[in-house]
Amino acid sequence: MIFVAIDTPDLDRAVHLARAVGPVTGALKVGLELWAAHGPRGVEAVRAACPGTALFLDLKLHDIPNTVAGAVRALAPLAPRYLTLHASGGAAMVRAAAQVAPAGTTLLAVTVLTSLDATSLESVGQGADSEAQALRLARLAQRAGAGGAVCSAREARSLRTALGPDATLMVPGIRPAGANAGDQARTATPREALDAGATHLVVGRPITGAPDPADAANAILASIPSEQ
Ligand code: C5P
Repeated sequence: MIFVAIDTPDLDRAVHLARAVGPVTGALKVGLELWAAHGPRGVEAVRAACPGTALFLDLKLHDIPNTVAGAVRALAPLAPRYLTLHASGGAAMVRAAAQVAPAGTTLLAVTVLTSLDATSLESVGQGADSEAQALRLARLAQRAGAGGAVCSAREARSLRTALGPDATLMVPGIRPAGANAGDQARTATPREALDAGATHLVVGRPITGAPDPADAANAILASIPSEQ
């Protein structure tokens, strides 16, 4: 399944994109940009533009357990299919979120942000080995009730081994062969990511920045063996 990242603070544009690509992929991701500008109403407007679409709410929650649990409860009416939280918030935080998450919502752990290189990791007091850190955090989150993780295609293989066959692996940084990488440093084609163990893909600008987003989404779907 491909989640199209609706990354814009402009609600009209978000609704327009949702109408165009929602029926093609059946799955949309809303993140902090739209959330910061329009909150739950923005999410509802996107959903109303394309009813029945699976919603991935990428809010990367990170706070004390009580606050995160309260946020997860407050998000329940939006019925996200997937919701992200930072595994580095600790096992108690993930567990508190998992205890109150609605039945239809799978929590996905964000481990090490792909924007952090070895130097940045050391500067925030973490070891320079980002892969070991990502594995440690993903395992911790899974034990605490997360259903999977967000990871780069490069990490997908080792996370699949660590988390087992049932874990959801949501992989952003996807670029169709020959596409512009933009600011993504480590990209993979849809097929490479799925071969590495991804269950779901996140695609933003290659679809939303295309002259015809629905066409671009269709082309990406056609490039993978069968919808996953
Ligand atoms: O436009 P593009 O395909 O690069 O968008 C990727 C989406 O995935 C964005 O919404 C970005 O915030 C998100 N994401 C990412 N890398 C992560 C986690 C999330 O690119 N590690």
